[in-house]
Amino acid sequence: MGLRCAIPKGRPMEQLLPYFQALGGGRWGDVSRRLTLVDEDLGITFFLAKSMDVPTYVEYGAADIGISGKDVLLEHDKYVVELLDLGLSRCQLVVAVPENSSVRTVADLHFNSRVATKYPRVAEEFFNRKGIQVELIPMNGSVELAPLVGLADAIVDITETGTTLRENGLRVVGTVAESSLRLIANPVSYKVAFDEINRLVDTMRSLIDSGVSAR
Ligand code: PRP
Repeated sequence: MGLRCAIPKGRPMEQLLPYFQALGGGRWGDVSRRLTLVDEDLGITFFLAKSMDVPTYVEYGAADIGISGKDVLLEHDKYVVELLDLGLSRCQLVVAVPENSSVRTVADLHFNSRVATKYPRVAEEFFNRKGIQVELIPMNGSVELAPLVGLADAIVDITETGTTLRENGLRVVGTVAESSLRLIANPVSYKVAFDEINRLVDTMRSLIDSGVSAR
C-alpha cells in the first residue's frame, strides 16, 4: 500500500496541485465533494480534510503524512514530525482592530479587551508573553465579523492577501506569527516508510527550489 496523505481542502489544495502534477500525478478533475482519492500515478491516497484537522489525521496515524499550515501546527501542538517548509500559502497571524479604533499597537488594547479568534492557544501565549490581559473569544470562522457587530474589540486571525481585512474595515496592529505549508509525518510512519517519505521530501524540496508552474 502506498502512502496516505492528508491535505487541506480549499486554497492550500489549489496551490499544491501544480506540485503533484509536476510529480506526475494530480489528474484529479473536480474533487470539490470528494473526501478521499487514490492517485495511482503517485501511489498516494489523499484525504481531503479541513485544514484544522490535518495534523489530527497524521498524529493518530490515519494518514502517514500530511500537509498543514504552520498556524494550525502552532495552535494544536500535535505529536507529528515537521519535515519540510513548502513555502506555499504564506500568510501571517495578526492582531487587527477596526479602522476607527484608537488602538495603534497591541499595547494599546485596554484591560480585558475582547479578542475573537480561531487560534485561542496561540493568541493566549502571545498576549501572556506581552503581559496583556485580554478576554479571548474562540470562534470557528469568519472571525472578521466579530468586531463589526460589537462582539469583539479585536481579532487574531490569518491574513494572506489582506483582502478580507480591507473589505471589512480592519487594520493590523501586531504580528503574532508567520505561517506557510509544512510537510509533516506520523513519527511511526516516518520510521516504517523512511526511504519512501524522504524521497518525497527530496523531490518536493527540489520542486519548491526550482519553482513549479502548473502543466
Ligand atoms: C482565512 C482567514 C481570513 C482569510 C484571509 O479564512 O481566516 O478570514 O482567509 O485571507 P485574505 O487575507 O487573502 O483575505 P478562510 O477563507 O479560511 O475562512 P474562515 O474565515 O471561514 O475560516
